[in-house]
Amino acid sequence: VVTAMSRYQAALLGLGLLFLLLLYVGLPGPPEQTSRLCRDPNVTVLAGLTRGSSPIFYREVLPLHQPRRAEVLLLHGKAFNSHTWEQLGTLQLLSREGYRAVALDLPGFGNSAPAKEASTEAGRAELLQQVLQELQMKNVVLVSPSLSGRYALPFLIQGHQQLHGFVPIAPTSTQNYTQKQFGAVKTPTLIVFGELDRVLAQESLRQLRHLPNHSVVKLHNAGHACYLHKPRDFHLALLAFLDRLP
Ligand SMILES: *[C@@H]1O[C@H](CO)[C@@H](O)[C@H](O)[C@H]1NC(C)=O
Ligand SMILES: *[C@@H]1O[C@H](CO)[C@@H](O)[C@H](O)[C@H]1NC(C)=O
Ligand SMILES: *[C@@H]1O[C@H](CO)[C@@H](O)[C@H](O)[C@H]1NC(C)=O
Repeated sequence: VVTAMSRYQAALLGLGLLFLLLLYVGLPGPPEQTSRLCRDPNVTVLAGLTRGSSPIFYREVLPLHQPRRAEVLLLHGKAFNSHTWEQLGTLQLLSREGYRAVALDLPGFGNSAPAKEASTEAGRAELLQQVLQELQMKNVVLVSPSLSGRYALPFLIQGHQQLHGFVPIAPTSTQNYTQKQFGAVKTPTLIVFGELDRVLAQESLRQLRHLPNHSVVKLHNAGHACYLHKPRDFHLALLAFLDRLP
């Protein structure tokens, strides 16, 4: 009877152990570690890009998984720099979605020193041109908020053949170009602005409307820096646009 009892107990114990083992094997691994591996792209690399005397700094993320065709170049507004796109999670998101993304510190912002080339329209267009060349960016989608229009618009007007897409976010300098100049730009464009931005958004929209292949996204309840006020909506619109590009 005693042996029968312990055999019964041993069997129970065995079953219990087997159950624990199954439970263990069936459970996902330590949650923090796995999700970190999946979620954190190889974050931003800060490096100096030397052109002439003054280096231009930038942050870059590489596609985390299978790379997509488009590469995204992010400029910034007056109160910001490349770090803004890291803080907002835009760089990391683009990497997770398979895009190479680069955020620049424009001359005089972030780590980049002021550059005298930046004082002319031609100099600013040339600067972007050099950035694309030195970073060997291809199929570039240029994201240009506010003040960065000083760089993006002269580049767009002259060099739109090199752009795969354009995402102006209430940029400055649109007044410097004519309806005819905009009309000649075939680049697919996503015009983004904040509903509460009454001045620059409206002014730039009047001009950007002449771009033949554009769509418009108005972010509700957002001001001039609408991507900061409504990052989720901004990110969704940007990803949808990138996904639609040929
Ligand atoms: C992160 O990126 C750097 C530079 O692009 C590269 O040298 C490094 O191997 C990457 N690390 C991982 C874990 O992917
Ligand atoms: C706009 O055009 C004027 C006159 O050509 C020029 O002086 C000015 O620098 C331009 N502004 C920008 C922001 O490109
Ligand atoms: C317009 O842009 C979309 C992407 O937003 C693209 O798929 C389409 O081919 C473009 N149309 C023309 C006529 O270039």
